Amino acid sequence: MRRATFLFRGKPEVAERWRNLFQTHAPEVDFRAWPDTGDVKDIRYIGLWDWEPSFERHFPNLEVVFSLGAGIDQFWKADLPEHLPIVRVIDDDLTQQMVEYVTFAVMAHHRELITYQTSREAQAWQPRPVRTAGERPVGVMGLGVLGSAAVERLKQLGFQCRGWSRTSRDIPEVACYSGAVGLPPFLNGCEILVCLLPLTPETEGIINARLLRQLPPGAALVNVGRGGHLVERDLLDALDSGHLSGAILDVFESEPLPPGHPLWTHPKVLMTPHVASTTRPEGVVRGVLENLRRLERGEHPLGLVDRKRGY
Ligand code: NAP
Ligand code: GLV
Repeated sequence: MRRATFLFRGKPEVAERWRNLFQTHAPEVDFRAWPDTGDVKDIRYIGLWDWEPSFERHFPNLEVVFSLGAGIDQFWKADLPEHLPIVRVIDDDLTQQMVEYVTFAVMAHHRELITYQTSREAQAWQPRPVRTAGERPVGVMGLGVLGSAAVERLKQLGFQCRGWSRTSRDIPEVACYSGAVGLPPFLNGCEILVCLLPLTPETEGIINARLLRQLPPGAALVNVGRGGHLVERDLLDALDSGHLSGAILDVFESEPLPPGHPLWTHPKVLMTPHVASTTRPEGVVRGVLENLRRLERGEHPLGLVDRKRGY
């Protein structure tokens, strides 16, 4: 039987952690780290963030591409050949990090942190009426691995939860909506909107002026999906007009966010540099090795991307 040869393409210090984990848990796999590819004809599996068109010719025997993240939009933008399967990351550690981030961001909006921060800067003592989670409708766009885990935690915290997905879902105590017809009722009355969609041609620019207008006055946004979901100009207009009370953003149209971009200094924005949930080798390698074993047995891997759906 041919040996499974896996090429990792990432930062050298991360590659060393991957190498150690492969050596400990799967010594039978021939692990290689970019740029030391060895004979490129051996490479059957590759793990990377970014695809380059020359790879198709460079690795003639490539069978499967492993995304180093949960999202795979970077691949459809880079024209990854149709015949190559993409496997994305599904990992408890990544999910836990996202659940924690969404909890923090929803809680920050719920307890009006941005409004109080503005008062503080003006040295103004301005208490506002307190509401509890049960009085706060929160909506999560995207009810997949990450969105459904986040909504479960928000439910435990007592929020009035609703969710939106492409196909219909049934989650106890969560008002579930789907598709284009489900979007207006999902948005209606939604005071905190969380985006955990994948970026696809259908979801690109979905958080735009038209969508934001359908949220109630004073609503707040959390974007942890991709920067491409949000039309930043429309968000800035909605914040400046007072229709939105604030936004917590982890992802941006252009990353790193360019110097001088208005989001850096906007008083109604809290931002983090795409760290809501990061791929940590110890968790992710476990899943990659399980998938390599499945593939070597001729089984489907977990997290196989549906190329037609785009996620
Ligand atoms: P997933 O399991 O594939 O779930 C995607 C969800 O979005 C599903 O519920 C899907 O609907 C829904 N969806 C897709 N297209 C839709 C459309 N056109 N209309 C309505 N709903 C649609 O993905 P995941 O693992 O939860 O990850 C979601 C995204 O999070 C990733 O793609 C990535 O962009 C982002 N992410 C960000 C970070 C960060 O650090 N900021 C970290 C990890 C991931 P169905 O249920 O009907 O399929
Ligand atoms: C990070 O953004 C990921 O997609 O895993």
